[in-house]
Amino acid sequence: MLQFEDAVVNNPAPGLQPAVADTAVAYAARPQQAQYAPPPRLTDTAKMRRVNIADKRIINGQTDVNQLVPFKYKWAWDKYLSACANHWMPQEIQMSRDIELWKSPNGLTEDERRLVKRNLGFFVTADSLAANNIVLGTYRHITAPECRQYLLRQAFEEAIHTHAYQYIVESLGLNEGEVFNAYHEIASIRAKDEFLIPFIDTLTNPTFKTGTLETDQALLKSLIVFACLMEGLFFYVGFTQILALGRQNKMTGAAEQYQYILRDESMHCNFGIDVINTIKMENPHLWTTEFRDGIRELFKQGVELEYRYAEDTMPRGVLGLNAAMFKEYLRFIANRRAQQIGLDPMFDGASNPFPWMAEMIDLKKEKNFFETRVTEYQTGGALNWD
Ligand SMILES: [Fe+2]
Ligand SMILES: [Fe+2]
Repeated sequence: MLQFEDAVVNNPAPGLQPAVADTAVAYAARPQQAQYAPPPRLTDTAKMRRVNIADKRIINGQTDVNQLVPFKYKWAWDKYLSACANHWMPQEIQMSRDIELWKSPNGLTEDERRLVKRNLGFFVTADSLAANNIVLGTYRHITAPECRQYLLRQAFEEAIHTHAYQYIVESLGLNEGEVFNAYHEIASIRAKDEFLIPFIDTLTNPTFKTGTLETDQALLKSLIVFACLMEGLFFYVGFTQILALGRQNKMTGAAEQYQYILRDESMHCNFGIDVINTIKMENPHLWTTEFRDGIRELFKQGVELEYRYAEDTMPRGVLGLNAAMFKEYLRFIANRRAQQIGLDPMFDGASNPFPWMAEMIDLKKEKNFFETRVTEYQTGGALNWD
């Protein structure tokens, strides 16, 4: 059997070392260093006026953020309602078949085991980064209460996702130290996180404040990286791999968890894109040629990093998948994300080698490739299964 230590970078190159560690130090030091500008007091004249819809803004708004209504950004409120209707919890999903398969010496091939471990190695910490980005960063820069309401729901969903990954790791009896440290120790995972961290740091830096061209563009760039590249691209190799296992009737419990996560993430990504496009509409001066060129460059870097992760998780073809197919898929997704925020596609002719993934995102569709079949989602934690 392949060991998880295989290809582990025990002594990462010096350039790879500091970012994650520095972030940890920065977080630890933050309470002493915090120099928050005090929030506007409710007695300020603008805050005393009744909220006028025309005055509401996604960023740099002056209206009272404590008043959810009158609604201006109804799409954000609708997404909040949909997200609540999609509520689920990891422990509602049966993992016994996965445990049996994992423990059986011939249950999975060595390549499949490596894929599962490397896959979880990215995800077990990725959603904590996402949650930190929302709670410590994005939330305080967004001045539309409808969007804040969705972000609160999104933050809880990120906690559920971290819970789900931990539940899978625990169910399979994986080495927690190895899996949870993969983002330090596996080069391709570390590279993805190190790409993201400067953008997360922008938003979580206590001295960062919107209101100038430079800082508003920095905010917009971080929002694009987070929605289009982290949630919209960096999750897709991993989701496709586990869902491909599920389609072959392997690790069906984990695959179901991933399917629910994929649905949540798809909404996070769409919400982020709506926020980005609304900020663009309200602040057209931010969308300069230079800014757009910078974003396109980041998209290309993102595709390359995710492709390296695909190679690392699948050094050989596995499950009928191989890294080259993912290169095409990532280009296809990057084109789609670019178009969603009003950029021209950057990879000519890229097509989707995994059309079945689109069906995975929409759980309301009938599906029969897993043993259990979701017929409808209910609120209150009650799931109906055939
Ligand atoms: Fe998540
Ligand atoms: Fe997310």
